[in-house]
Amino acid sequence: MAPAENNAESLLVRARQAAKRAHCPYSNFHVGAAVRCADGSVIDGCNVENASYGLSICAERVALFTAISQGKRPIELAVSCIDAKGDAAPGSRMPCGACRQVMQELLPSKADVSIDGVGTRQLEQLLPTPFELRQPTIN
Ligand code: THU
Repeated sequence: MAPAENNAESLLVRARQAAKRAHCPYSNFHVGAAVRCADGSVIDGCNVENASYGLSICAERVALFTAISQGKRPIELAVSCIDAKGDAAPGSRMPCGACRQVMQELLPSKADVSIDGVGTRQLEQLLPTPFELRQPTIN
């Protein structure tokens, strides 16, 4: 088993690769995400925009929902953002609030979230007071 830092870096590599596949003709803002699952597999996703803007979906949710739909249990996540000029400001690299809410239901509360160019945060740092309807059963 590779050290934790190497795991985070390899997950970021997958997220960067996924960002290149983003369908983002409206924002020109490429986002990629990768989740490591409990069985060791990695599933990635990119943002997918639509001419009806509100139908667009973030890379983090694509990756997380894909993992769940494949019967996998996500345990950590990495995200990478690249804008049209090939870079992104630090604030633009952070996962949006909607994705944080989804993460808190589908990842363990102590899950590492690696943000390219920013660092690694525990999920509970990113969303200390999530909305909860009832105790999630997934973890
Ligand atoms: N985006 C993500 O994929 N993840 C986030 O956490 C924030 C924003 C996408 C949505 C949209 O396609 C583009 O970035 C610009 O907002």
